[in-house]
Amino acid sequence: MRVLGIETSCDETGIAIYDDQRGLLSHVLYSQIPLHADYGGVVPELASRDHIRKTIPLIKQALLEADCTAADIDGVAYTAGPGLAGALLVGAAIGRSLAMAWNKPALAVHHMEGHLLAPMLEANPPQFPFLALLVSGGHTQLVGVEGIGRYELLGESIDDAAGEAFDKTAKLMGLDYPGGPLLAKLATQGDSKKYKFPRPMTDRPGLDFSFSGLKTSAANVIAKEGSSSQVQADIAASFQQAVVDTLVIKCERALQQTGYKRLVIAGGVSANTSLQQQLAQLLKRHGGEVFYPRKEFCTDNGAMIALAGYYRLAAGQQQDLTIGVTPRWPMQQLPAV
Ligand code: KG4
Ligand code: ZN
Repeated sequence: MRVLGIETSCDETGIAIYDDQRGLLSHVLYSQIPLHADYGGVVPELASRDHIRKTIPLIKQALLEADCTAADIDGVAYTAGPGLAGALLVGAAIGRSLAMAWNKPALAVHHMEGHLLAPMLEANPPQFPFLALLVSGGHTQLVGVEGIGRYELLGESIDDAAGEAFDKTAKLMGLDYPGGPLLAKLATQGDSKKYKFPRPMTDRPGLDFSFSGLKTSAANVIAKEGSSSQVQADIAASFQQAVVDTLVIKCERALQQTGYKRLVIAGGVSANTSLQQQLAQLLKRHGGEVFYPRKEFCTDNGAMIALAGYYRLAAGQQQDLTIGVTPRWPMQQLPAV
């Protein structure tokens, strides 16, 4: 079975073709970052319009690179939520219509399920069950995963997502949008023990997170210490360590609570090397293993959507002819496979 995947939920147009026998045949990505950089964040209307310009040319490119034609595609999967309504509608309208024109089934994919399953594209995929830490620009969630569509939400952020905290703190430091990866780069030059940032909600029981206070602490330090390049690097390193420590503490708690020995990390922030290393150490202490996608599949991409769509289409699930999106969509509402 061969599936075309379309991702347009935010500021990247990602297209991929996944074949269940041969794996990923092609994947192409167009990032809108330069388009939004002048505004310091994603402008939803500009995002939608750019997806309109890029999606069909990228589908043609992905078909060409996979050396196949529309006739070789057995199903179309597109991100239907969560995300920006207008941006999602572009991928949904194109994906659903192409599937109808090609007389093939279509599947509306949940973006976070895409992230969660992305490590399955790697050479050593995780077996079920596992604990998943989903850390992106819009979500921070701990999920118990018994199988595809068998998700238990164990904890989540009550305010900002981890990626959002990285981006907002980076912005306060004068770094370009999206600041997460730039802050992480700066952190490699800094002393992570220099400034004492809080580890929010770790002093009480439970698996929820709160990251909105961290940027206020960072703003106070920036105001007090100025912004020489060494101060900036030390703030970046100390801030990153506070986020990583918080995530590690909650993951350890969730592992103890559930008894799982495998941890999957996915979503944009899972590209953070420091987070990957410190979670690997945690799982080593627990006699378990950590799994994450290759770097380019940590952030938004079409490959994870093609893969998630494949699992559901192969199980006989499909979308009716309605072109619809679900900008707010709890992952626990998904049917099991
Ligand atoms: O999954 P993603 O591409 O988009 C959403 O679904 O939100 O995640 C993007 C987020 C942004 O907040 C970005 O700053 C963050 O992931 N991010 C990072 C790193 N790379 C991307 N945060 C920290 N360290 C990184 N290396
Ligand atoms: Zn994402």
